[in-house]
Amino acid sequence: MQNRYSAPSVVRYARATPCQSGCTACATCPAAPNTTLKGLGSMAHIFTATNAKGGCGKTTVVLNLAVCFARAGYRTLAIDLDQQGNLSAGLGVDLNQLNCTAHRLLINEAPEIRRYFLEIRPNLKLLPNTIDIEVDDLLEAKKVNREVLLRRQLKPILPDFDVVLIDTPPAMRAATVNALVVADTVIIPTDSSSFALLGMNQLLKTIAAISETHNPALKILVLTTMFNNRQNLDKIIRQQVEEFFGPSLVLESIIHRYVGVAEATAMRKGVVESSAMSPATFDFMKLFNELKREMINEQKREGAVESIHR
Ligand SMILES: Nc1ncnc2c1ncn2[C@@H]1O[C@H](COP(=O)(O)OP(=O)(O)OP(=O)(O)O)[C@@H](O)[C@H]1O
Ligand SMILES: [Mg+2]
Repeated sequence: MQNRYSAPSVVRYARATPCQSGCTACATCPAAPNTTLKGLGSMAHIFTATNAKGGCGKTTVVLNLAVCFARAGYRTLAIDLDQQGNLSAGLGVDLNQLNCTAHRLLINEAPEIRRYFLEIRPNLKLLPNTIDIEVDDLLEAKKVNREVLLRRQLKPILPDFDVVLIDTPPAMRAATVNALVVADTVIIPTDSSSFALLGMNQLLKTIAAISETHNPALKILVLTTMFNNRQNLDKIIRQQVEEFFGPSLVLESIIHRYVGVAEATAMRKGVVESSAMSPATFDFMKLFNELKREMINEQKREGAVESIHR
């Protein structure tokens, strides 16, 4: 099958190639000392999962990663910016009881953000959400600085967390733009259907525009989801995704399609909680470890840049 899609320039988002020389000094060398984020007193790393295509696994990825980070001892904040409230429901929140939602936080001028958090699991706080059309309209109608509302709200509490994971709706509305403005890394879950790359140019143009105006350091990582090893089409789609973005932007970890993943969500849990030994848990743990490495490399690069400027 021919690759019918061509990417706008994503080259500038390319990850640094790991150093092959075996030194331990440079920022990207895999042999460098294994510093972890915890204990370094750094600001939280913010991951935003986004794709305007619905049902590609954004919420599932955020939910399971949030649980993985929290269980590993990272002070984790999960943010549900989707008024469908799937992340909140998936983590066990009763949507009918919610008054303090992420959307309400964004339209309020000076709220106490910590009041909006729910303690969901040990080390895991959630800024929840649920349907509230009136508030969504108010957010869309805001004229001034609408895209930096979340950044402003999060700024004072970022030192309280090691990692923030944001789930977004399947649309490029104000909430999604806010989530991109504040992110260090955008994860684009890409399912294994033949429509996986449709609309991707539009998404990348939006990311490029936000990167230019608000967030020049924003990085892109693409994640293959719903992958079935036994289907040739899935392998072809993966190949197309790698050609479209370039292999350096595509995460090595792959989330396969397993019924257990959806069953766990129905039980209001991540599959990593409900089935410790399942292959799906293995997939999410692999992804968690890959992202952890990304965070550590990023921190080393920042440290290297700082020491050059000192
Ligand atoms: N790896 C997987 N294997 C099997 N089912 C999955 C997998 N990942 C997600 N699902 C199921 O697919 C459906 C869509 O997943 P999810 O809600 O995470 O997608 P989404 O991108 O957040 O959707 P939306 O765009 O509507 O927010 C859900 O029912 C979920 O349980
Ligand atoms: Mg979702």
